[in-house]
Amino acid sequence: MCGIVGYIGNREAYPIVLKGLERLEYRGYDSAGIVLYDGQDLQLCKTQGKVLDLKKKSEKENITKGHVALGHTRWATHGVPNDVNAHPHYSNSGNLVIIHNGIIENYASIKEELIKRGYVFHSDTDTEVLVNLIEEIQKHEGVKLGKAVQIALNQVVGAYAIAVFDRNKPDEIIVAKLGSPLAIGVGEDEFFIASDASPFIEYTNNAIYLEDEQMAIIRKGRDVRVRQIDGDKQVAPYIQELQLNLEQIEKGGYEHFMLKEIYEQPEAIKDTYRGRLRINDGIVKMAGLEDNIHKFLNAKRIIVVACGTSWHAGLVAEYIFEDLVRIPVEVEYASEFRYRNPIINSDDVVIAISQSGETADTLAAIKLAKENGAFVFGVCNVVGSSIARESHAGAYTHAGPEIGVASTKAFTTQITVLTLMALKLAKRNGRISQSEFHQYLAELETIPAKVERSLEVDSHVKYISSIYKDVANFLYLGRGYNFPVALEGALKLKEISYIHAEGYPAAEMKHGPIALIDEQMPVVVIATKKGHYEKVISNIQEIKSRKGKIIAVVTEGDRDVKLLADHVIEVPETYEALTPLLTTIPLQLLSYHIAVMRGCNVDQPRNLAKSVTVE
Ligand code: F6R
Repeated sequence: MCGIVGYIGNREAYPIVLKGLERLEYRGYDSAGIVLYDGQDLQLCKTQGKVLDLKKKSEKENITKGHVALGHTRWATHGVPNDVNAHPHYSNSGNLVIIHNGIIENYASIKEELIKRGYVFHSDTDTEVLVNLIEEIQKHEGVKLGKAVQIALNQVVGAYAIAVFDRNKPDEIIVAKLGSPLAIGVGEDEFFIASDASPFIEYTNNAIYLEDEQMAIIRKGRDVRVRQIDGDKQVAPYIQELQLNLEQIEKGGYEHFMLKEIYEQPEAIKDTYRGRLRINDGIVKMAGLEDNIHKFLNAKRIIVVACGTSWHAGLVAEYIFEDLVRIPVEVEYASEFRYRNPIINSDDVVIAISQSGETADTLAAIKLAKENGAFVFGVCNVVGSSIARESHAGAYTHAGPEIGVASTKAFTTQITVLTLMALKLAKRNGRISQSEFHQYLAELETIPAKVERSLEVDSHVKYISSIYKDVANFLYLGRGYNFPVALEGALKLKEISYIHAEGYPAAEMKHGPIALIDEQMPVVVIATKKGHYEKVISNIQEIKSRKGKIIAVVTEGDRDVKLLADHVIEVPETYEALTPLLTTIPLQLLSYHIAVMRGCNVDQPRNLAKSVTVE
């Protein structure tokens, strides 16, 4: 993972790069570092910990001056998180400096060779190997920096977004990309480099997104020259206009990004269906799907590939696609799919779901699917991301930037897109009538207001959180459409509060997990009116008779569950297929409040990063 930021121009680079690193901290926060070129020499400051620690250290050491800078926030892969392994890394001569997001898989053999040639390594990182390889090529072959970077990259196996600076050539920065994202902000006589556009959004709306296997020479006050890494082919850079604004990436008065993003869901869902859900015309308009509708309608099978929360959205999609469209759906962990020699046919449609659009396993899974002739449809949030570009077609969720590491609005907006797709397809293949289709659209349009109402339980959920914040385990149960919600609720709790939690289909409980239940065990049960209500009540009885504590998510006005549960949390009534959009809200709030009460870092939980660009 890791976040990289760079600047070359006429402004003071320090505040730009530091702010940029703060915005990219979601990508990793094990250590941070910055190097500045002050017109004469390089000044380096790096430290274990967060960008705030870097700020304190660099200001204390007076390392803040220069019009060129490279910064890095790290999610450790090779080497423990400490000061030495933090980026940037110098080459042995001290002339070159590099920042890197990704992994160099064959670093060990290259390192061995460089050691034989007299190189000394100070860190355990693969990155320090790469910068010395570049230096060795520069020296040995007598080539310019750009050429040396290119030759080096043709020797390495792995993934990277890198920026390299040579203090003997202070008017240029070389960048390159394979598998990790890299955007170049194009200003007037100045350029920005970053893992996404958020670090430079207040300076320019123009960005170049490098494609895989491309590198660029960024020349101060001049231009950006893009070329293929595996040859000398120059590529005309495509400058894209960004839609992002600053307000979208700030906290807007909320204590945490996660809470802000939970509360943004009514608007985010509206943004997702805006222009697509057209009740008056009686249609769902989705160009990416429309243009490829026959691929879907002729598909023998849909395979969903995703990871984490996006995988849970994929499970909801399985229920709704099979229920309404009647096409068989398989939901695969991308990390398993890519390595298990799966059977993929040319009449399969693969839907890749990813908030970031950069998840390495999902990206590899779709590449595999494409190699085998399948049609790939991407459902991503980040516009222009690798998965979006690698897919044959797709639909964006339009949730806006999700900064909190725990996914919230990404989940509900993914479900919204997938629901729209299912409705469009079901109407086209005649599995639902025009009037059913119409009713679904009308109901979907009520969802933002119903999410708003679901958020009103916040203070009640906070009270429940105060009772259970110190327990060691939680169980989450749901059936049908709400089974994936139970998995998602458990994932949210464990990732931000570090409480062990399991999600189960409610009826599976008696095949094992029931043994865990005693008076210490809170069990969150999703027991809405639509969807196996009576059966879930029986499951609640089973928990009750073993003295488990029941926190039930019920439909407004419910009476029966109220008689049995220790706590009930009400959400509005909706169609069964749409309940996940509501039942997930109190579970997000529950995990949020418990984590805050336990003093956990909600937006940056330990060991995690927002976009998992390593496998
Ligand atoms: C959980 C979470 C992760 C991501 C997973 C996939 O809250 O954020 O489980 O869902 O890493 O990420 P994307 O959706 O970016 O592919």
